[in-house]
Amino acid sequence: MKVLVIGGGGREHAIVTSVAKSEKVTKIFAAPGNAGIAELAECVDISVMDFDRLTAFAKEQEIDLTIVGPDDPLVAGCVDAFEKEGLRVFGPRKNAAIIEGSKTFSKDLMKKYGIPTAAYENFDNAEKALAYLETASFPIVLKADGLALGKGVLICKDLEEAKAGVKEIMLDKHFGDAGNKLVIEEFMTGREVSVLAFCDGNTIQTMTSAQDHKRAKDGDQGLNTGGMGTFSPSPFYTEEIDAFCQKEIYQKTIDAMKAEGRPFTGVLFAGLMITEQGTRVLEFNARFGDPEAQVVLPRMKNDIIDVMEACIDGRLSEISLEFEDNAAVCVVLASDGYPVSYEKGFEIRGLDRFRDKEGYYVFHAGTKLAGDQVVTNGGRVLGVTAKGENLLKARENAYQAVEWIDFDNKYMRHDIGKAIDEA
Ligand code: AMP
Ligand code: GLY
Repeated sequence: MKVLVIGGGGREHAIVTSVAKSEKVTKIFAAPGNAGIAELAECVDISVMDFDRLTAFAKEQEIDLTIVGPDDPLVAGCVDAFEKEGLRVFGPRKNAAIIEGSKTFSKDLMKKYGIPTAAYENFDNAEKALAYLETASFPIVLKADGLALGKGVLICKDLEEAKAGVKEIMLDKHFGDAGNKLVIEEFMTGREVSVLAFCDGNTIQTMTSAQDHKRAKDGDQGLNTGGMGTFSPSPFYTEEIDAFCQKEIYQKTIDAMKAEGRPFTGVLFAGLMITEQGTRVLEFNARFGDPEAQVVLPRMKNDIIDVMEACIDGRLSEISLEFEDNAAVCVVLASDGYPVSYEKGFEIRGLDRFRDKEGYYVFHAGTKLAGDQVVTNGGRVLGVTAKGENLLKARENAYQAVEWIDFDNKYMRHDIGKAIDEA
C-alpha cells in the first residue's frame, strides 16, 4: 500500500513513524515532509495548500491512502478535493473541519447541544464587543474566530487590556480575516488536558490523554507557542472524568455534527479544562495535536492504517484501540527567541544517537537538509520523546535524551511534566 502524508512538522513525523510500522505499507511519501521524515518517506516539495498538485501527485503515484496532518488544509477543504478526484483520504471534510476553523461555530454547536463549555458571546462588530466589555467581569478571554496559528486567544486581566485586545483582533486585524468575528468567553481555571479521538462520523473512540505546555518559558511564563512539550497520560484525567466526557462531550459532539449534516471523520481533538465545577471544552481541533501526537502515537498498539481505514469506511466500532501501559514525555527543542524572532540554519548534532534506541524518538519539526547536514529551520526544531514505565521515569529519560542533541541557540523548557509531581 502506498501512503501520502500531508504536512511537515513534528506531528507528521510522528504519523509517518506510525505508518512506517504497518506491514501493509510498502511506500510512504510526504508533502513537503522534513529532514527527519525523509529517513522514512520520500519527500515531495508540494505545499500543503496546493490541492491541485497534491491530488495530481496522488493520482500519478497511485496513492492508496492520503493522511492530512495540519489544520489549514483541512479547514480549506483538502479532503473534499481528494474525494472529488475519487481518492481515498483520512481527515474531516471542510464542513466538519469548521469545528476548528470557526470558534463561533464550535461555541454555538456546544450551546445548541448542551456540551459543557465556558459561557460566551459572539460578536461581528467591534463597537458591540467593546460595549459588552463595559459590563463584563475580569479576567476575560478573547478568541479570534478563525485559524491564527494557535495565537488568536487573548486572556485579558482588566477592561483596558480587553479593549486593546478587541482593537488588535477586530480593527487592526492582527490575525487577518480570522478576526472578522470574535468570541468573548468566561475565564476558567483548572487543569488542561488534551484528548484525541478517532471518529468515523457515527462512532468516536478516544486515545490515551495528554497534556501540552503552551507557554514559552518555565513556570508557564512567556508567550503562547505552538507547544513546548507534552506528557501522556495525564494523571488528572481520571476514569470518573473520562466517563463524564465520553457521555457529555465526545459522543454528544459526534452526534451533534451528524445532526447538523456535517459528519466528522478523522481525528477530533478536545482541549478540556478540568475545573472545580466539572470538565468543560476549551476548544476543538480537527486533527492530531502537535506535540500531543508525539506522545500519544508512540504508545498506540494498533496498526494506524487499520484504524484510519475503519474511520473512512464507517466501521470504527469494530476496532478496539489499545495503548501501552506506560508513559511518554516529549520535550521540544526550540531556537532561542521563539516564538518572536530567531535565527535558523545551525547544524544539528547528535541525531544518530537515537537510531535503534527502543523507546526514544527524535521527531523533526523545523529542520532541513543542507548538503549532508541537518540544520535548524524553524522555531520549534525537534521534539524529543522518551517512554518510561511511568511518567516520572519517562520524564527522566526525556531530559536525559535532550542532552544527546546539540545545536547553536538550543532552547527548551526544563519543567515539562512538572505537574506530575502534584498528582
Ligand atoms: P485555545 O486555542 O482555545 O485552546 O486557547 C489557547 C489557550 O488559552 C488554552 O490552551 C488555554 O490555556 C487558554 N484558554 C482558552 N480559553 C480559555 C478560558 N475560557 N479560560 C481560561 N483559559 C483559556
Ligand atoms: N498542541 C495544541 C495543538 O495542536 O493545537
